[in-house]
Amino acid sequence: MPPNINPFFDSVTGTISYVVYDELTGSCAIIDPVLDYDPRSGRIRTTSADKLTDFIQLQQLTVEWILETHAHADHLSSAHYLKNRLGGKIAIGDNIPAVQETFKKVFNLGNEFIPDGHHFDYLFADEEIFNVGKLTAKALFVPGHTPADMAYQFDDAVFVGDTLFMPDVGTARADFPGGDAHNLYRSIRKILSSPSETRLFMCHDYPPNGRAPAWESTVAEERAHNIHVHDCIDEEVFINMRNERDATLEAPVLLLPSIQTNIRAGETPPQEDNGVSYFKIPIKMD
Ligand SMILES: [Fe+2]
Repeated sequence: MPPNINPFFDSVTGTISYVVYDELTGSCAIIDPVLDYDPRSGRIRTTSADKLTDFIQLQQLTVEWILETHAHADHLSSAHYLKNRLGGKIAIGDNIPAVQETFKKVFNLGNEFIPDGHHFDYLFADEEIFNVGKLTAKALFVPGHTPADMAYQFDDAVFVGDTLFMPDVGTARADFPGGDAHNLYRSIRKILSSPSETRLFMCHDYPPNGRAPAWESTVAEERAHNIHVHDCIDEEVFINMRNERDATLEAPVLLLPSIQTNIRAGETPPQEDNGVSYFKIPIKMD
């Protein structure tokens, strides 16, 4: 049974969040919700998350799952906030401890941060089946952008996370810790082995040449036209392109606050004894 899909585009981070729902039972899953963060002031707002909440309440939906495709490095997740407001289980891929372990070291988090995935309510294995009301969904392990990326398939719709993007944008970077262009290529080919009419829903869009934001393509469109991974590009060419391109990319503006929040399932770092929560900035010397 095809799901109902409602997208929400955050123009600040280029992120698309989704509410996927079953009209019959009123059950829904939220995918990759955004928490608004102003890096100049440190101020968090819930404007984006509240748009999802308004929709969910208007449609009288019950949240069963809050699904993260991965620990995002470009926006903060509102999973924790939304769980407190609406309920549901926060889930991510079962390789997330590898990401937590890496960033525990980067941010010198100390013994109170245990990198075992317990910040999330559920960790999906590859090919694991789960339900949203009467909808049947499948979690797919698609590492490469990070070592713990997942995609989520609902019938003929796949939420691809950070693997590929719209055909004119290409693919996700693979240079974060634990990222790997070879794995990313394999993961993308796995997604593109689905039937040609399969609908693909992006996690991001960075529209080039003034085109309007878009987030839905098909396997056939990506195989024919994706500028990085169309069918005539082999693995070696892709890896060389990806590595060369990644060497030119800046760190995402929200990298450091995003990671510190998202490895905690959308919870900001614990308050200090003055009641204030802080992000850390590791200083690097050239
Ligand atoms: Fe990402």
